[in-house]
Amino acid sequence: MEVIVAKSAGFCFGVKRAVDSLEKLVETKTDQKIYTYGPIIHNESVIQHFESRGVTVLHSKEELLEIQDGIVVIRSHGVGKEIYELLNYRGIEYCDMTCPFVRKIHDLVAEYERKGCYILIAGDKNHPEVQGILGWCSPDNSQTFQTASEFEKLGIEKDRSTVLVAQTTFNHNKFKNLVEIINKKGYDINVLDTICNATEVRQSEAIQLSKDVDAMLVIGSKNSSNTQKLFEISRVGCPCTYLVQTSTDLDGSIFKGIKSVGITAGASTPKKIIEEVQTNVRNRKF
Ligand code: F3S
Repeated sequence: MEVIVAKSAGFCFGVKRAVDSLEKLVETKTDQKIYTYGPIIHNESVIQHFESRGVTVLHSKEELLEIQDGIVVIRSHGVGKEIYELLNYRGIEYCDMTCPFVRKIHDLVAEYERKGCYILIAGDKNHPEVQGILGWCSPDNSQTFQTASEFEKLGIEKDRSTVLVAQTTFNHNKFKNLVEIINKKGYDINVLDTICNATEVRQSEAIQLSKDVDAMLVIGSKNSSNTQKLFEISRVGCPCTYLVQTSTDLDGSIFKGIKSVGITAGASTPKKIIEEVQTNVRNRKF
């Protein structure tokens, strides 16, 4: 059986940077308590690895308010302005691992808001990255949406100067379609395509690969938004697409009559897990 692994599968630059920095902190700051504000990435095995080395995950602003010292790591998703203010006010040391591409969106929305623009974000309002972006705009001057019908319901005035940014992991084609629809309706919207290139490359590769194979495996956590998106787009090209978290999720029956398998993985999937799945599939006897 032929097994093809997408070149772009796994950690993106921003996630690798955050995970490597946390690893380094754990090794060097042995005398200090280390916290992450939210799980460092959406991957259970990575979170457990760090927990076993004494890292504590803070799940809310309230939990952040309870700590007295230590170092807080801000993950690649970034956070709103208020969290920095809180950390600075309380004199708590922090290590900012916000991905530079996410940081750029924070700067853009803050800058355009200062210029008097209304801010629109194409993305999932419950996702930590979008929550962080919203944290750089006034609540009464910003809204999120994911579909054309959701956009309609926002009630944006056509002549209001508005800027549109996207969650870095937003589906590229979906964003292009949304922009086309919005433009046709005559809104005064300045579109800033802030979708991360890593996401685009990974998604395009998954689309292509899924068309070339009999079965497709997408490796990643069920709660990782970019993994879910990879799963959705791969399923279009290859109906036999399966989402697995580790090699233990592999069900042998899915390989019956299959001659080729494509493998891709979300941005929070460690290389080790991709290799384990790949080896597991290659070692199967059919
Ligand atoms: Fe950054 Fe792009 Fe990854 S925004 S966290 S490099 S998906």
